[in-house]
Amino acid sequence: VASGVLPPLQGHAVTGTLALSVFTAVLGSLEFGYNIGVINAPQKIIEENYNATWMHRYDEPIPAGTLTSLWSLSVAIFSIGGMLSSFCVGFISEWLGRRKAMLVNNLFAFIGGSLMGMSKLCHSFEMMILGRMVIGAYCGLASGLTPMYVGEIAPTSLRGALGTLHQLAIVTGILIAQILGLESLLGNEQLWPVLLGVTIVPTVLQMALLPFCPESPRFLYIVRCQEHQAKSLRRLTGRLEVGDMLAEMKEEKRRMDMERKVSILELFRSSLYRQPIIIAILLQLSQQLSGINAIFYYSTNIFMKAGVQSPVYATIGAGVVNCAFTVVSLFLVERMGRRTLHMLGLGGMCICAIIMTTALALLESVPWMSYISMLSIFGFVAFFEVGPGPIPWFFVAELFSQGPRPAAMAVAGCSNWTANFIIGMCFQYVADLSGPYVFLIFAALLLFFLIFTFFRVPETRGKTFDQIAANFHQHSAGGMMDMDMDLDKPSTELDYLGEESIN
Ligand code: GLC
Repeated sequence: VASGVLPPLQGHAVTGTLALSVFTAVLGSLEFGYNIGVINAPQKIIEENYNATWMHRYDEPIPAGTLTSLWSLSVAIFSIGGMLSSFCVGFISEWLGRRKAMLVNNLFAFIGGSLMGMSKLCHSFEMMILGRMVIGAYCGLASGLTPMYVGEIAPTSLRGALGTLHQLAIVTGILIAQILGLESLLGNEQLWPVLLGVTIVPTVLQMALLPFCPESPRFLYIVRCQEHQAKSLRRLTGRLEVGDMLAEMKEEKRRMDMERKVSILELFRSSLYRQPIIIAILLQLSQQLSGINAIFYYSTNIFMKAGVQSPVYATIGAGVVNCAFTVVSLFLVERMGRRTLHMLGLGGMCICAIIMTTALALLESVPWMSYISMLSIFGFVAFFEVGPGPIPWFFVAELFSQGPRPAAMAVAGCSNWTANFIIGMCFQYVADLSGPYVFLIFAALLLFFLIFTFFRVPETRGKTFDQIAANFHQHSAGGMMDMDMDLDKPSTELDYLGEESIN
């Protein structure tokens, strides 16, 4: 084992290069999370600024309806940016390569951050709205590129744990935004432009570090047919002997060369890919339609209605629980597997949603129900991060081999962002209509996704991309799908970092 190797995680060495590359990639996820969380706290102040701009231009206060529309647009246009750009993930990552695509994506972050940061100075809410769209576009690309790159450079046995770091960086970003958004820090009249412009900081860091990270060897070898990938493999794994890994990639390439290039349409037409793409889409939907962003976008409001005394701090509490349980998932995902954790998370969220509804319905007659509703919201968030938060992001990269992966990531990412947009736009209206019972809708959806996962989602822990794809191929050819592919021991013999060679 070469020098520069960090202490082993679960018995496997994480090299300095691997750690640096994953860290650099997830800076994009941090930025994604920051921009999800940043808009919640300073709503009132930014609205006042919109009003001031209106006064400045038209000498009269902004009509209430116009203000509401401008604000909703500022919030929701972020997901539209994400929807559009996530659809291009496949094409851009193949054209520029994973690393260069991440590098170029930073342009969006610069433009978006600058537009938002300067909007007050320029008396322009148009700049703010456009900035939100551009930063949304950055996040849409990052939400596909990061899990793809990390999934491709991670050793098989750590793919889940390293994949979870994408979500961990997202939730850390959300928490940082919630804290910086406090009125005593940046969420005030003078400093809110800084709060929005600060998003450029991780961008600068990512741009400085990316040149030191290797391009995904799987991409270079399997897609670009560059034979000499041993060097970056050695850097990533810390092993001098990488022949077995090259052999594994060679096998994947051999199979890929026999298939036609996989377009998005092909994913749905071909019986080989139909099953995994449906699973990929439904997993993304299970993440978003669980109702998690109803909490993250509207938490302050929800806590207020639940009778919680300091809703802003309760929101930060939810952010802390969010981070803590992502770490729990990080340590469990390679032990318990994706399928089990996802089902545990969905089931737990469903129960919490029912408790929350009961508590909210009883609030008038039983005052201490406000504590129960707060605890059930924390529980809801905790169970989300056990499975439905982190798993769908990296699971898509696992379900597909090198050929169809980029197209699949684009479809999955776009489904995620579309569902995110729908929740962001509709939750408030539905909540107004259905009062305390709104979370029962999510409980029903969660139950549906739980049943779907039980019957349709296979376990991928410890399997190479090739083995996972082979399982679906076998299934589409009429064989039985092995839901618990890893019930036998994880396939260390095919392990990217394993010492044994493949046979
Ligand atoms: C996931 C979701 C995102 C959500 C976040 C909450 O990353 O994709 O929409 O806000 O989790 O932790």
